[in-house]
Amino acid sequence: MNLNILVLPGDGIGLEVTREAVRVLRVVAEKWNHQLTLREGLLGGIAIHKTGGPFPAETERLSREADAVLMGAVGLPEFDNFAPEKRPERGLLGIRKTMGVYANLRPVRSYKALLDSSPLKNHLVDGVDMVIVRELTGGLYYGSPRGIYEDAASSGVEGEDATPEIHAVNTMAYSWSEIERVTRMAFELARKRRRKVTSVDKSNVLEVSQLWRRVVTTVAPDYPDVALDHLLVDNCAMQLVLNPKRFDVVVMENMFGDILSDEGAVLAGSIGMLPSASIGAKKASGAWTGLYEPVHGSAPDIAGQNKANPFGAIGSVAAMLEYSFGLTEEAASVNRAMETVLNTGRVTADLRPSGTPATTEEAGEAVCQAI
Ligand code: IPM
Ligand code: MN
Repeated sequence: MNLNILVLPGDGIGLEVTREAVRVLRVVAEKWNHQLTLREGLLGGIAIHKTGGPFPAETERLSREADAVLMGAVGLPEFDNFAPEKRPERGLLGIRKTMGVYANLRPVRSYKALLDSSPLKNHLVDGVDMVIVRELTGGLYYGSPRGIYEDAASSGVEGEDATPEIHAVNTMAYSWSEIERVTRMAFELARKRRRKVTSVDKSNVLEVSQLWRRVVTTVAPDYPDVALDHLLVDNCAMQLVLNPKRFDVVVMENMFGDILSDEGAVLAGSIGMLPSASIGAKKASGAWTGLYEPVHGSAPDIAGQNKANPFGAIGSVAAMLEYSFGLTEEAASVNRAMETVLNTGRVTADLRPSGTPATTEEAGEAVCQAI
């Protein structure tokens, strides 16, 4: 098979973790005789430095040509005081939207070898196996009006908030079809798992969440073999650490998913462990394409030190092999190899190993060997 992949290392530890993930890809390609075509592009802070913007047209073109995209991380502290539209993060939001990858799958599971890496009690964490399905191209991240306004009249803000001072507004907006397509993705996924969907919303306060719940409830009878329950997002945040084993597939809007997946990382032992697959886009040819990225950020505090955990990125490669290329055996082999390495205890510093921590390169190399 020809694997035509665009790599966007991005910023900070993104460079180091994607290097290891690509190494794993090469080993897989060699072992199973796949033809690997790798191209590299700019996204985020590095793209601002080299081209003036976080999501260059060239990167957009390359992403259209690729079968799948592997992204590292974006964000640099030097842009901390910049307006959202000028920041590296806008590049990531741009590519997600242009690719149309509306469903972000974030698997959260516990590993026996990492039970002590989590601050939670072992018996709570042992056996956790869920997938957070985060809606990725709508909601608060994209809605308009948005902005900071000197005078309220121009912001679209009305009523008592319209006093003459500085106002800021963001908008959470969803359409029926946007909710329906990600809901169906969640139900389909649940059918391959333990057949349980939990939908998360804030329907006791937000109209958007009331529509969310209505759509999910309307779609559910098409999947009579899957159990459905609803949780309010604040309660969900608590249940995630109180009783995480109750969850199988958990579906929610964009920002709720951003927040709760970082919380979920605590169950896995470290945010460095979490991979993600952003899917939903279909090319003109009918083939599915996807964007694969670890859940963690660019971690400027440890960037360039060969300390970062590459497993989130390597797990994202496994997800790519499975979802974009249908290479189930290869994907399983990558996941097994990671588990083998975890069992040796030679893991990166974020997992608080008892002995000397492995470097990013050593962890990547060990996975390659295990494959
Ligand atoms: C994530 C990140 C991004 C997000 C940032 C970097 C834009 O936090 O993928 O979870 O908020 O989606
Ligand atoms: Mn996040």
